[in-house]
Amino acid sequence: MKSLSDLIRADILASSAYHVANVPENCVKLDAMESPYDFPPDMQSELGKRLMNAPIRLYPNIAADDFIPQLKAAFHIPQTASVALGNGSDELIQFITMLLAKPNAKVMAIEPTFVMYRRNAELFGMQYIGVPCNDDLTLNLDSVLEKIKQHQPALIFIAYPNNPTGTRYPREMVEQIIQAATGLVVIDEAYGAFSSDSFLSQAGEIDNLLVLRTFSKIGFAGLRIGYVSGSLKIINELNKILPPYNMNQLSLTAAKFALEKIDWINHNINLLKSEREIAFAKLEDIKGVTVYPSEANFLTVKVPNAEECFNLLLQNGFLIKNLSKMHPLLKNCVRITIGKPEDNAKWLSVLQKAYG
Ligand SMILES: Cc1ncc(COP(=O)(O)O)c(C=O)c1O
Repeated sequence: MKSLSDLIRADILASSAYHVANVPENCVKLDAMESPYDFPPDMQSELGKRLMNAPIRLYPNIAADDFIPQLKAAFHIPQTASVALGNGSDELIQFITMLLAKPNAKVMAIEPTFVMYRRNAELFGMQYIGVPCNDDLTLNLDSVLEKIKQHQPALIFIAYPNNPTGTRYPREMVEQIIQAATGLVVIDEAYGAFSSDSFLSQAGEIDNLLVLRTFSKIGFAGLRIGYVSGSLKIINELNKILPPYNMNQLSLTAAKFALEKIDWINHNINLLKSEREIAFAKLEDIKGVTVYPSEANFLTVKVPNAEECFNLLLQNGFLIKNLSKMHPLLKNCVRITIGKPEDNAKWLSVLQKAYG
């Protein structure tokens, strides 16, 4: 065999894998926007029974399954929209990018944002245009519109609200971007459940719009279920390249069960939203830090020294995310997922003591 460097693409050899943090024992995980809530024991045993009877002998057949109709009903996806499923929305980001990866095609996103937009663009040999947001992490609309004119990207990703900042850009500005775009626009609503606005009701109505959502942030990151809604024409093309059996029977069974418990899911979402507001107000009162407005299930906070803050919270039993090295605008920023009320009170009091 030839050496790996003769066989594997040089850009892949030079890159590193997506970093997944190891969680120290007895540490509360607040680094990846997972929900802090497990199903209560009675629902767990009900789910156990369903999983026991899941048809794992068979390949899943999404077209014949009632999962998509259930999904549409639970999340108010317009009946006229078409839906494709992914093994997490990560997989959909990958395949949507692949769909548009013609030679010289470009991908655009507003920086700082979810790193997988850039990584997938590069993976498929597309030029990535990152348009920086303003220093206060708000959208620089003029700059985005100018770059659209200049580069005519085949694909624009807008995380709405954005990760890792929590910012939800003004709807009117995003509408202007969709109108100005000559290619497809993916509104990535991974955090849509925690937001005051959504583009989901326009899915299937606006030709170049795809709305991406996930089960991950509302309690089910382990199921790996994402879904994209849009026009039949685009979803048909996407379905041509998605792996035929990308979903699995156990996840689908658990997700269907979850949709039956939508009231429990919504209750948790509301709790986390009100916890986010409480934490935001408390952080605003701490002199030494700056907290950014968030419509997601996390808060991004500028602290005097992000590494020290990361270590301090780790010593106190909380794993958070140090964003410092991700982008110049995020220097000394940390991202903290909203957890259970008792945990939020604890990490807030650590920060109050350190910076108040
Ligand atoms: C903006 C955004 N989109 C998509 C994803 C991927 O989510 P998943 O693959 O778990 O559905 C994430 C995960 O953090 C995210 O922040």
